[in-house]
Amino acid sequence: MDRIVINGGKKLKGEIDISGSKNSALPILFATLLTDEPTIITNVPSLADIDTTIKFLNFIGKNIIKEENVVKTCFSGKYKHIAPYDLVRKMRASILIMGPLLARIKKVDVSLPGGCAIGARPIDIHLDAFQKMGVDIYVENGYVKTFAKNGIKGAVIDFKLPSVGATENILLSAVLAKGVTTIINAACEPEIEDLATVLNKMGARIIGAGTNKIVIKGVDKLCGFTHKIIPDRIEAATYMIAAAVMKGEVTLNKVEPIHLKAVIDKLKRCGLFIKEKKDTIFVKWVKNLKPQNVKTEVYPGFPTDVQAQWMVLMSLLDGKARIEENIFENRFMHVAELQRFGADIVMNGKVAYIKGVKRFSGAPVMVSDLRAGAALILAGLAAKGKTTVSRIYHLDRGYEALEKKLKKLGADIKRVHNN
Ligand code: UD1
Repeated sequence: MDRIVINGGKKLKGEIDISGSKNSALPILFATLLTDEPTIITNVPSLADIDTTIKFLNFIGKNIIKEENVVKTCFSGKYKHIAPYDLVRKMRASILIMGPLLARIKKVDVSLPGGCAIGARPIDIHLDAFQKMGVDIYVENGYVKTFAKNGIKGAVIDFKLPSVGATENILLSAVLAKGVTTIINAACEPEIEDLATVLNKMGARIIGAGTNKIVIKGVDKLCGFTHKIIPDRIEAATYMIAAAVMKGEVTLNKVEPIHLKAVIDKLKRCGLFIKEKKDTIFVKWVKNLKPQNVKTEVYPGFPTDVQAQWMVLMSLLDGKARIEENIFENRFMHVAELQRFGADIVMNGKVAYIKGVKRFSGAPVMVSDLRAGAALILAGLAAKGKTTVSRIYHLDRGYEALEKKLKKLGADIKRVHNN
């Protein structure tokens, strides 16, 4: 398995482009199942999760070509209705197959996604909603088997939690349902707005995406579309924090500053100099940065996907900080690895108490999940000496050209291929 080797301590300086959003591209790729007409999606990041999705959609019956950052779907055959274990276990977002297939062929059997490193991550909110929309559901041999005998019907759905995936899955089916669907307590993330923009380009009738109440009037048929994926706000936040950790001066191009408001506000409160323009962000380290507590929340609050990276920054500032994780029950797998660099972190349930240390020293560490991996890379960049990061396939799921971008900024980082 490949590893990343970092010789820490280099200042970061320069500019990089932020890639298209993984979490936006994934549901939009699933949306192509809703039409037989050609679609063109640009700014699609080159990531393992995107490749997995393309392979999955090809297996289901879609014909997809990806060249660099452009995906074209040009022909649709007869869809299969089975999402096998081997594809679903690799990526939780595979459950987004349910919405479009129920809408198009009334039937889909999906292998249960199971647990993952950051918590149990059930799919009850998705299933309860589909049941309200007229879908029969039962579990057999590790598969959730679903059948909408009379097609999908509009319904009023009140989520117990604003789940991102469930909001997307319901949108992906309600657009072709009979009647009107109202989602109450919907997730408001920018990725949901991006998906709704695409669906509306296809002829769907969605209002309210980006707020916690979405109303969808079902239509009979959807058409092709061309769409550019929004910038990846989590990747951008990771590089902003990298600049803070590495005493850097970094310009991020092709970003959407408004999507990063919670992170930018916190970084400014730490004392970092940040200048936002229309689609660029300039970040400059300033002496004596001060720690800031954070609580992860649904959008527009501080994102859970930036919690691990924030912990690295707090560990290296003079003073104390408290980080509360409110979205996932077990998203602190990075703590033990950060302690190997010398971090001073004490856990109590969903709260981490961090006391800043003067410096990290390089260590061999192992990635448990995507964002934990980002945190270990940041820690390695800051640490004195050599850090070896293993199990980096998690990072390849979500960070396009990670080493290339960091090298461009002056980091001493390389990928080592193991036999
Ligand atoms: C998406 C993002 C992920 C991000 C997360 C929260 C993608 C591909 N992934 O994940 O990067 O960290 O949003 O912003 O977009 N839950 C239930 N029952 C359900 C569904 C969810 O209890 O049926 C719980 C989850 O266990 C979790 C919380 O709700 O504790 C939020 O999950 P959800 O918003 O669904 O996250 P994902 O869509 O999986």
